[in-house]
Amino acid sequence: MAQFKPFEMDGIPVESEYMNWEEVIQEPYDKMDVDPYTRTRVILMNGIETNSVLTSHAVERMADNPEIKKQMAEIRRADSQQQQTVDWLNPPDQTILETTLGYEQVAVDLTANLAQHEPDSYVKSTLDFALLEDFDHLYRYGCLMQILNSEDPEQITKGKTDIKPGRPTSMEHRHPDDSMRNHYDKDEAELKTKMNYITITSGEQQTELFYKSHGNMCSDDLARRLYSEIAEIEEQHVTQYGLLGDPNETMLEKVAMIQLNEAYNYCSAALTEPNRRIRRLWEHFAQMEITHFNMCADLIKKHEGRNIEDIMQADSIRPMITFEPNKKYVDKVLEEQIDLMPYNMEFVHLADLPDNWPSFQYEKKVNSDRIPSEEVVKGLDGGLAEKENVEIYQNFRRQMNERIQSSNAK
Ligand SMILES: [Fe+2]
Ligand SMILES: [Fe+2]
Ligand SMILES: [Fe+2]
Repeated sequence: MAQFKPFEMDGIPVESEYMNWEEVIQEPYDKMDVDPYTRTRVILMNGIETNSVLTSHAVERMADNPEIKKQMAEIRRADSQQQQTVDWLNPPDQTILETTLGYEQVAVDLTANLAQHEPDSYVKSTLDFALLEDFDHLYRYGCLMQILNSEDPEQITKGKTDIKPGRPTSMEHRHPDDSMRNHYDKDEAELKTKMNYITITSGEQQTELFYKSHGNMCSDDLARRLYSEIAEIEEQHVTQYGLLGDPNETMLEKVAMIQLNEAYNYCSAALTEPNRRIRRLWEHFAQMEITHFNMCADLIKKHEGRNIEDIMQADSIRPMITFEPNKKYVDKVLEEQIDLMPYNMEFVHLADLPDNWPSFQYEKKVNSDRIPSEEVVKGLDGGLAEKENVEIYQNFRRQMNERIQSSNAK
């Protein structure tokens, strides 16, 4: 089985990593014949780089040490260029909505892949929980595409990922208190868990940033409102995932793990990338990340007196992250977990929630007028709209509404 062995890889000196403008901006993929999972890799790697840059900026503002600041700036410049190279692979004729379907395809098939290989059961539950929500977003945006352009969203997903309801978006809105999660223990957690944590947090953060920076650009009023509604769920996802990380990790430890995770993700992407030109890019960028990781490891050695090997407690990571269809897995999670809700840092069935669960009242408040994620289905005649007429969704909706009613009465 392929695995990631960072200590056996060669890096590239950081001064040699900086690119000229021609190298930064390369030819985009062709949206008509791109492999849908090439698009998802581009979207994910952009999110991974953005998180690396944003976290490094946070360190620069909090670390009172000139050497650390300088090295962070050197690594950050390379990551920033990489981010642009990757994000500019998206072609200009790909609409915001088409790109959005790609984002939710990432969310579904990435989350499902990570969940199936996650060694920590609590982290796995958290992934499964949000999986059903992003799965529903794919459906709502798919409905929007049909309403706006009479186009089939499958032209983006190419049948690799089902487009049907998950946990209905309108019922994903929760009081902020219900986004609290436990964190893993940095000394106990497996390296794979730490990598999954950084990968999914980066991906969800990128999704939030994309919806919040593009939703207002849509000319259609329902589209503008749908982006706003779903962006808030992504904010919830970033919150719950961000909380999984151990706050007792030092700043340098966090950036070292982020750089390691960049390398792990690029190596994973290269392994299954059918586009030769893009595969070479993934391979090249993986080498750059190894240097960033080694620079962080040196800083930890110098300023904290610790060896990176002792922090990692492993010299390899497996399996690699793979984009592939997960239809059966998603169906199983849907069947078993559609009515799971977060309560007291755990996931419990709807029937086991107390009437004073804060999210009942919160949901009543935000859904008290028009609900974009519902309108987008009602606006359709047949087609995707039919997919909601199935017992599992109808039962869940009825139970949820009953609970909101009875929480009012008390
Ligand atoms: Fe990078
Ligand atoms: Fe999400
Ligand atoms: Fe990096």
